[in-house]
Parts: sequence; C-alpha cells; structure tokens
Amino acid sequence: MSLLKSLSSIKRIFSSDPYWDSSHTDMYRFERTFDPHMPKLHSGKLILDWGCASGLSTVGFSERYPDCSVIGLERSYYAHEYAKRHFERSSGVSFVRGNGYNMDRLFKNKKFELIAMMNNMWFVANRFTDSRLQEIMNDVVNHIDDDGYLFLTYNYEIVLFQKEGNSLHMKNTNVDKDSDYVKKSSLLKIARASNLDGVDLEKLVDRLYS
Ligand SMILES: C[S@@+](CC[C@H](N)C(=O)[O-])C[C@H]1O[C@@H](n2cnc3c(N)ncnc32)[C@H](O)[C@@H]1O
Repeated sequence: MSLLKSLSSIKRIFSSDPYWDSSHTDMYRFERTFDPHMPKLHSGKLILDWGCASGLSTVGFSERYPDCSVIGLERSYYAHEYAKRHFERSSGVSFVRGNGYNMDRLFKNKKFELIAMMNNMWFVANRFTDSRLQEIMNDVVNHIDDDGYLFLTYNYEIVLFQKEGNSLHMKNTNVDKDSDYVKKSSLLKIARASNLDGVDLEKLVDRLYS
C-alpha cells in the first residue's frame, strides 16, 4: 500500500474515535524539522512517545534513536490496535494502552530519558485547571531520568526541556514567532505546570516569542 493510502486509511479509522485529534501525522517530521533540535541520548535508554496514536511517531523515534527502546503510549483502543498491528514488529518498539494522565499506574518504576508529547498536550492544556495540569505534568516529569528530556510539539513547532536537578530548562526550540495567543498561553501553562523549582518560565516563554 502506498504511504498516502496508508495515511488516509489511518485518518479514516481514527475519525470515528473520540480521542483522535487529527493533525499533522507525518513520519518525515524527524528528518525534515526536528533533527537539529533533538538531544543526544544514551544507548540502551527508554523513550516514551506519550499519545502515539497510529505509532508513526514511535517508529520515527526508533529510527532516530536505534540504540534506545521506544514505548508508544496511547489511550484510544483503535489507535493502539492499529499501532500494534502495523509497527510492533519494528525493532525496539512496543506499545502500551492506557491513560497518560496516570503515569504511575502505567509505569510505576520506569524512568525515561525522553518523554515526547507530540501534538497532544500542547493542544489541550488550556482545558485543564492549573492545579490539575500540575498534577499531570508532575507525574510525567517524575518519570523522566535526571538530565532527561521533555519534548513538546505542536505540528512543526517544538520545545525541548531538560530536567536538571529539580528544574526544567528550555534547551532547544523551533517556534513560529507569529503563533497565536492560544498556542503561546498553552505552552506557558504547560511550562508553569511542569516547573519543579520556580525557574521563571513565564519570562522564558515571553522571550521565546518576542
Ligand atoms: C494528534 S495525535 C498525535 C499522534 C502522535 N504523537 C504524532 O505526533 O503523530 C494525539 C494522540 O494523543 C492521544 N492522547 C491524548 N491524550 C492522551 C492520554 N491522556 N493518554 C494517552 N494518549 C492520549 C490521543 O488519543 C491521540 O491519539
């Protein structure tokens, strides 16, 4: 099946699923856009593709980091089944079904060197109260190794945070300076909610877009 046909069949399957937020699912994002912004990871480490949908982004990570293991987490039954069926045989890739708002239940003793939230949390952060988002993000950040990374994307825009001690630092970014207010405020909300040590992320986000 051609790539275009398989992408449109993915979209058809997920359009009936309430959890599927259709967007740019493009397996070439890594090479085209993200590569210069991606961190170096240690071999043998774990990557979590949080909200992986069809698993294309999970495979993208495993191709970019062949020495790491990548877990694709997805709460949608249909998306998870699709990912397993098509990609679980790819080396270094596995899939878990569950709600990423409760990381402890899913990955009690696991830590990841990189957690990627691609085209999901940044889309919806404004729907949460500050305190709920803080709970969710603290739980996520607790599952990142010391010196590990949180990778957020909104289509082709990215922000990479590194966990250093008890703080998150913004490392690499690729943002559109003309982004709308909602996109900026959503990023700021996530940054604030994930901030463990009182770094002034509000200033950082302001600077990023100025
Ligand atoms: C737009 S897709 C992005 C897929 C993939 N990350 C990518 O960039 O190609 C967003 C996915 O995140 C999943 N998702 C959203 N909230 C989630 C949660 N709390 N736990 C697990 N998956 C979630 C949705 O079900 C959806 O499949």
